[in-house]
Amino acid sequence: MTSVTVRVPAKVNLQLAVGPIRDDGYHDLVNVFHAVSIFDEIVASEGTALTVRVEGHGADQVPDGGDNLAVRAAHALATHAGRPYGASLLIRKNIPVAGGMAGGSADAAAALVACNELWGLGLSRDDLMEIAADLGSDVPFALLGGTAVGTGRGEKLTPLEVGGVFHWVFALADGGLSTPKVYRECDRMREATGMRVGWPEPSEDLLAALRDGDSVRLGKAISNDLQPAAIMLRRSLARTLEAGHEALGGIVSGSGPTCAFLARSPEHAAELAVSLTAAGVCRAAVIGDGPVPGATVGS
Ligand code: C5P
Repeated sequence: MTSVTVRVPAKVNLQLAVGPIRDDGYHDLVNVFHAVSIFDEIVASEGTALTVRVEGHGADQVPDGGDNLAVRAAHALATHAGRPYGASLLIRKNIPVAGGMAGGSADAAAALVACNELWGLGLSRDDLMEIAADLGSDVPFALLGGTAVGTGRGEKLTPLEVGGVFHWVFALADGGLSTPKVYRECDRMREATGMRVGWPEPSEDLLAALRDGDSVRLGKAISNDLQPAAIMLRRSLARTLEAGHEALGGIVSGSGPTCAFLARSPEHAAELAVSLTAAGVCRAAVIGDGPVPGATVGS
């Protein structure tokens, strides 16, 4: 095999409940991940060394050396296999860079799947999941896809049955937000207000809405504990969320700055995308459905 193409989805967090900070600097979470139809594509081709090239919007913001998460993933896989394999990786970006939609994690997951195939290693998804968890909290979910509850720092996943398709609009921002900075701001705000931070619990309402495919109920149940911190760091997000008030619900996606709006139907999603664009509150508005499968071979 001389080259393998893998398609991998973005995620939005339907619930992001952030618990107290742990001794290792991470936070215990209840993180309801939902994979949506905005895809990056990774092509892994034979090569003597591990190299990467990135194309698409925001490509210049993505590291193109050993820091690239997809390269780190391929290295981790080669180490696991005990051989100094090489590959040249091409990443075609559609997922917003540093946008709170786990684009870097998605590319890492795609690199694991692509190199496993290219190098003929035959590792199972469970083996890849273990390597994925060491690369980042959101990488295992990009392998799994669908909708799942993540606990721990988000890497311990339980898949959820979902009774329908949900239609989303994503308001993409200019520039990204740093995830560690948003978590730090969340801690700072909680400390400044003397907030007592409880153990994160899944929302029963949200789980019922997902099970029933009930988008009206889901729109009311979506929540993100990182949202106040993201807005504090990027005040314009308050205006973006306000501009989407006709949606069934709207939240900042993960650590932002992308905002996610739930629509009643594909037509409603298209209307919302037009009104968000016309309001001038985003760089672009992109439509997507969820849930969709995780990293998959073939384009
Ligand atoms: O795991 P990952 O490298 O994707 O996490 C990026 C950053 O997000 C961490 O360095 C940490 O600051 C923050 N984080 C956290 N608690 C989590 C997940 C991420 O504080 N459960």
